[in-house]
Amino acid sequence: MIERPRGTRDLNPAYLARHGVVASAFRRTAEGFGYREVLPPTFEPLELFHAKAGPGIEEEMYVFKDKAGRDLVLRPEFTAGVLRYYVNELRNAPKPIKLYSIGPAFRYEEPQKGRHREFWQFSCELLGGAPLDADAETIALAVQSIRATGVRQVETRIGHIGMLRAYLKGPKEAQNGILHALDKRDFAKLHAELDRAGELDAEDTLRGLIALRGGSEILKQASDLLGGAGKEGFEHLHRVADRLPAYGIRDGIVFDMGIIRGLAYYTGMVFQMHAPTLGAEDQIGGGGSYALAELFGGEPIFSTGFAIGMDRVVLASEAEGVAVPLPTLDAYVVPIGEGVRTKAFEIAATLRGTGLKVDIDLVGRGPSKNLDYANAMGARWVVLVGEKELAGGNVALRNMETGEQREVAVADLASVLGMDKPPMGGVDFH
Ligand code: HAM
Repeated sequence: MIERPRGTRDLNPAYLARHGVVASAFRRTAEGFGYREVLPPTFEPLELFHAKAGPGIEEEMYVFKDKAGRDLVLRPEFTAGVLRYYVNELRNAPKPIKLYSIGPAFRYEEPQKGRHREFWQFSCELLGGAPLDADAETIALAVQSIRATGVRQVETRIGHIGMLRAYLKGPKEAQNGILHALDKRDFAKLHAELDRAGELDAEDTLRGLIALRGGSEILKQASDLLGGAGKEGFEHLHRVADRLPAYGIRDGIVFDMGIIRGLAYYTGMVFQMHAPTLGAEDQIGGGGSYALAELFGGEPIFSTGFAIGMDRVVLASEAEGVAVPLPTLDAYVVPIGEGVRTKAFEIAATLRGTGLKVDIDLVGRGPSKNLDYANAMGARWVVLVGEKELAGGNVALRNMETGEQREVAVADLASVLGMDKPPMGGVDFH
């Protein structure tokens, strides 16, 4: 037996049925907001992420050399690839530019429930909007995307990394070390980083700040704590939150000054979405406004985006019992005897042509073994093609749920089978 690599999964049909429902909800919602789909490559030059993603992600990257000695990395996320694409090819496109991507990403993390080394993201970027409008639109799209999957129990926490950066003042590298320690709530490391940056007097303020979570009253408390630094940021958050009801979003939003984010490119509003049904790995999505275009040779452009962890949405959807159609088979065709096989394949082809899901015996089994197989595959109907019935232009049609069997004209088969298609049901591959 060959084991799969640690942290990877074989996604089975039942999982993919739910994943497919989630993916199509995301596509529908993003396109409903005017976003277009793009897909950067699975591997990228190392320099695209090196020193841009930040200390957290850099340690987790799958880095390798190709045969020509190039340093490559399996994408740990989509944003850097999409921004590279924007700078190289879309710089002159009409603004704002709205792009979304769906696909796997790779991080060398310690695997556990909801945390994998290969996982799926739905990632959205809005480039060249006005800050208030773009930030509100981004949060609204993230919230509505989750709602479209049927998952209800999600809290969206909004913070502002720009206020912390304004307060810290020092060079960006030192800030990133401090913010990384704060994000991980690693207070020993925080102390060491602040000491190194000569900003130890900020320690109590920072620890007090990240504990603030709640309604708009905490914005005032945060502002007082920072002694006026980052005032614009607090006002911005207020205005962003005030815009959300216009999108039909009236609850599930809190302010949280402890949202730091693991990636180093964020500069302003940041947010995370948490699903209480998930346990330890409850962060279902996150994002914010960021500066990347200038690092890739472009002009600065106001950029806001987010990514949702699709595997975690699948888990949340399961936990909340969201109904999802399982893979089904409408009909299984059983030729009875060698002489009718060609005709049976023609019948199967005609039924498939009407959009039905149809399988047919490919091993020449006897009828009773074939009925067992059809049952195991969750077929709703079995079409028994026998010489005697065929002579009269008919086949025998068996309802696998009730066991009833009757003769049906071949010409009527498609309409009979198409009539009572159930919305749910099928085989559970768990
Ligand atoms: P991120 O927070 O690193 O942000 O990842 C987004 C989401 O991906 C997380 O909230 C989580 O649900 C999921 N995720 C991350 N790592 C794993 C893992 N090992 N296993 C399962 N799910 C995981 C970004 O990637 C940014 N690019 C988001 C963004 C877009 N910011 C601006 N634009």
